[in-house]
Amino acid sequence: MAKDVTGKEFSKGSVDLQIITSNNGKIREFKEILRESPYVPVQNNVSYPEIQASSLEDVVDFGLTWLQERISSPFVIDDSGVFIDHFNGFPGTYTRYIYDTIGLKGVLRQMEGVDDRECTFRCVLGLLTESGEKQKFVGECSGTLINELRGEGGFGYDPIFIPDGFDKTFAELASEEKNSISHRGKAMRKLIDFLLQ
Ligand code: IMP
Repeated sequence: MAKDVTGKEFSKGSVDLQIITSNNGKIREFKEILRESPYVPVQNNVSYPEIQASSLEDVVDFGLTWLQERISSPFVIDDSGVFIDHFNGFPGTYTRYIYDTIGLKGVLRQMEGVDDRECTFRCVLGLLTESGEKQKFVGECSGTLINELRGEGGFGYDPIFIPDGFDKTFAELASEEKNSISHRGKAMRKLIDFLLQ
């Protein structure tokens, strides 16, 4: 049985955790990763401004502050992106914009003839605690962008990303396997440890 900071005991799936996202792929992963914890994600798809910044951390800081004045805490936000070495880390904080405009096929076209295909997925989770404290949890997963789309699972860039040490894309891996090594899985486990400490 898990305990919170006050020593109160929790059983699996007994505590609601508000997650601010309109991305169904993310919420599915939150559900899977939290399955063995006391927490159950409750989706709130209120939108908040994602500022143009050079780091995911800055985007998350702004989002937490903006939401703090508008909705009740505690809640969690997730900002993620893929940082491609060949483009000095682009698209990074612009990952969603690139996905929504040129799409994966457009990304692959920009990568045609490029030998250095290494990149890193980053996920920054922001937590606003009940007492109004801000916390961030970061997870990273490095790998390679392939030159075609493979697999049906996951979401976003998953069909073109092979994590280091594997020969399948995130979209070809079982969801438990992706969650065990992914940027979001790593950040989530840090968040869970914090909540349970
Ligand atoms: P945002 O965090 O809502 O700004 O979205 C970031 C972008 O990264 C979106 O286009 C997502 O599809 C993509 N993305 C975030 N996490 C993942 C992931 O785990 N796999 C594939 N794409 C992702």
